[in-house]
Amino acid sequence: MQDARTRQRRIRKAVFPVAGLGTRFLPATKTVPKEMLPIVDRPLIQYAVDEAIEAGCDTLVFVTNRYKHAVADYFDKAYELEQKLERAGKAEQLELVRNVLPPGVRAVFVTQAEALGLGHAVLCAKPVVGDEPFAVLLPDDLIWNRQKGVAGPGALKQMADLAEASGASVIATQDVPREKTGSYGIAATESFNGRQGRITAMVEKPKPEDAPSTLAVVGRYVLSPRIFDLLEATTPGAGGEIQLTDAISALLREEPVLAYRFQGTRFDCGTHIGLIEATIRHALDHEALSDAARETMQRALGEMGVVDLD
Ligand code: G1P
Repeated sequence: MQDARTRQRRIRKAVFPVAGLGTRFLPATKTVPKEMLPIVDRPLIQYAVDEAIEAGCDTLVFVTNRYKHAVADYFDKAYELEQKLERAGKAEQLELVRNVLPPGVRAVFVTQAEALGLGHAVLCAKPVVGDEPFAVLLPDDLIWNRQKGVAGPGALKQMADLAEASGASVIATQDVPREKTGSYGIAATESFNGRQGRITAMVEKPKPEDAPSTLAVVGRYVLSPRIFDLLEATTPGAGGEIQLTDAISALLREEPVLAYRFQGTRFDCGTHIGLIEATIRHALDHEALSDAARETMQRALGEMGVVDLD
């Protein structure tokens, strides 16, 4: 059954659940939200925001908690700073500060009063999203579609195009080793053509022996607004939380939901090693820093005896 409302509509709204406590990164996250940790010169959240804007979104909905002000401050206009930079003639820095959000893009902040899970966080965005298909981006998952320095379309842009062409909801996926299924939503599909397939079942964080496949959900979703009604009816699932995966399980019984294996590399910045890897890769690809980054890394590996410098 395909809903006429969801067909051929451009995705304009993107939801960013950013209410988490980021305990894995304590003590840094005692004062700095996880989403504000930098990858080279930009905070993690900026990469997800840029991906949403590239995909055509002009309304960014941040679901935050009442203690987290840094994300809102970051996207707010910094009048004093801008004035100072302007007076000092620092045009380049001024541009960086102003371009955090380009003209025509607005940020809306919604509070999640209680940490009841990802599904609940998405449901908090309902009053802003309303009755249209929308995107959800989990900023922990940093996705990068570059090959030999050349950028291709971001993961969400690829998904938005597919959602628009098919009228279906689209979930980003990637293959993971079976022993890792317990960290992800796992999708079973039919007629998967290597790039996409219709999802027939979804389970949140199954044990390897119970997982219906090894196709894992990555933090990018294009969803039909019907998901909100289903989230309202969703009871706590894995980990005692209201899971987005469970509501999607209900959605796929009513409407087509596609698993999409995106082009690009995903860095799991919810883990220390993922954050480190993303930093290294971005530094090596950075316009101004790549040569220095390469030298520094080679020297460090040589001095630590990891590689032979001679
Ligand atoms: C969330 C989702 C899970 C998904 C994962 C992707 O889990 O619940 O289905 O696979 O994001 O990063 P979390 O990592 O927040 O526990």
